[in-house]
Amino acid sequence: MDYKQTIADNISSALDHKINRKDIEAKIEVPKNSKMGDLAFPTFILAKELHQAPQIIAQNLVKQINTEGFDKVVATGPYINFFLNKSKFSNDVLDLILKQQQNYGNNQRGNQRNVTIDMSSPNIAKPISMGHLRSTVIGNSIANILSKNGYHPIKDNHLGDWGTQFGKLITAYLKWGNEKDVEADPINKLVEYYVHFHKVDKEHPELDDEAREWFKKLENGNQEAINLWKWFRDVSLKSFNKTYDKLGVKFDTYNGESFYNDKMDEVIQMLKDKHLLKKSRGAEIVDLQKYNLNPALILKSDGASLYITRDLATAIYRDRTYHPAMNLYVVGSEQILYFKQLKAVLKEMGIPSADNLHHVPFGLILSNGQKLSTRSGRIILLNKVLDDSVKLAKEQIQEKNPDLPNKDNVANEVGVGAIIFGDLKNNRMDSINFVLKDQLRFEGETGPYVQYAHARAESILRKAHVSSQSIVSGSKSVSDPAAWDVLKLLNDFPRIVKMACDEFEPSDIAKYSLKLSKAFNKYYAHTKVLVKDDELVARLSLVKSISIVLKEALRLLGVKAPDQM
Ligand code: ARG
Repeated sequence: MDYKQTIADNISSALDHKINRKDIEAKIEVPKNSKMGDLAFPTFILAKELHQAPQIIAQNLVKQINTEGFDKVVATGPYINFFLNKSKFSNDVLDLILKQQQNYGNNQRGNQRNVTIDMSSPNIAKPISMGHLRSTVIGNSIANILSKNGYHPIKDNHLGDWGTQFGKLITAYLKWGNEKDVEADPINKLVEYYVHFHKVDKEHPELDDEAREWFKKLENGNQEAINLWKWFRDVSLKSFNKTYDKLGVKFDTYNGESFYNDKMDEVIQMLKDKHLLKKSRGAEIVDLQKYNLNPALILKSDGASLYITRDLATAIYRDRTYHPAMNLYVVGSEQILYFKQLKAVLKEMGIPSADNLHHVPFGLILSNGQKLSTRSGRIILLNKVLDDSVKLAKEQIQEKNPDLPNKDNVANEVGVGAIIFGDLKNNRMDSINFVLKDQLRFEGETGPYVQYAHARAESILRKAHVSSQSIVSGSKSVSDPAAWDVLKLLNDFPRIVKMACDEFEPSDIAKYSLKLSKAFNKYYAHTKVLVKDDELVARLSLVKSISIVLKEALRLLGVKAPDQM
């Protein structure tokens, strides 16, 4: 229920609609001190228009306002304070949640318009790292949040499957590689060849020429080059998909960089037609001085394409294919300047939807405070982290709840959920120091803590032996003041869903779920739910509503909510 809206309507009609309802709504506050009511409206914003002192306005308005649904409405100095009728509030909120179930909080702001989400996008022949984890889980959650706001998300895995590094990889494989080794342990072997190449080429620069030659052959469709590249790509994807399966993340398209190989000539032509390309030391660049940015390098002196060349083709392709309301790139903050360049070039090209391009950056994952990188050898392998987490979760469950049915399944949901939640609870832009044990605790700000709150709600409902039908149709007026925080949080969920969407910020949902879990645990510690009195069914409807909203919040994050754990 949006009580701000009700209040704004009331005030606006008391003023004969002289003041816009939306302007009033925007000024309604939640007082810091609950003695000042549940909501408050500062009247001084009307003083100028009404030519009256704020105190007078408050006193006059209070007499005219429709007070239905409120316990009292009082003027205090330049404020009008609204005290909600708690039992009506409880009824309204719980009734809506139980009617709408998991659809509670849905809105249709997106009008089913497409939003493309460029996410995960690891590089072929390299391990999918913790850094790519962030893009994967943030992108997946943003997609869920967009759907809940009525958009139609399209998740695209823009694989790094093209570029001069494939020339190096082919060269290295042909020199030192072996088919059997690659089949047995693809990513590790390919990384080994690549690293070896970089060691040797310092003393043998001719290797670089060879690699360039191979990439040229690849771009020109040489069969041997293509076959090797395809094979590298297949074995890498197989390994990536294992990780995606564990995370429960699916993509709509895997249009990696190679997909745009035959679409770049047109881009170059468009740039030429607009006289945007300039020669600089043999290479072709677009000058971006006007944007205060470094020039964008579009073609190397040997004519080879670059990352940005492929991204230009990508953005234009998405535009034509999906007409997206937004084209999002969930990519680390190291690439902020790069995406500014990309957007600027598209603008210069006169691509109308350049304005719909949003880079959604995020911070680093650190290990012991240090940056991870393949080169330094400081890498945390995502697959291993997920396996370790599930193993640890299993040990915890074994200890806490040895008779639990379906233990393996639950351990999976808890172990994987802990990793996803441990990431998403942070503001997107913050760097995360990764400590597995901390993410798996059942106490504190963790995924398992929220999952456990949900499982506790479900366990109460099981023990109650009251049919869900009687809960849905029964009374929902919880008068216990201890329930008030929970009720207000439940009522707030639809607003949080909108905010998370506007800010592309899954942490809004994660933080909300922590707050709701805490409030529920506090309520539960204070109140015996399963006592046979007049309010039993109402309390159960509260518990059921909590379970519904927690499960839905976790779903938006891409985390499962087991009924028992
Ligand atoms: N493969 C790149 C990397 O690992 C990320 C690609 C992001 N998407 C894009 N359209 N540029 O850094």
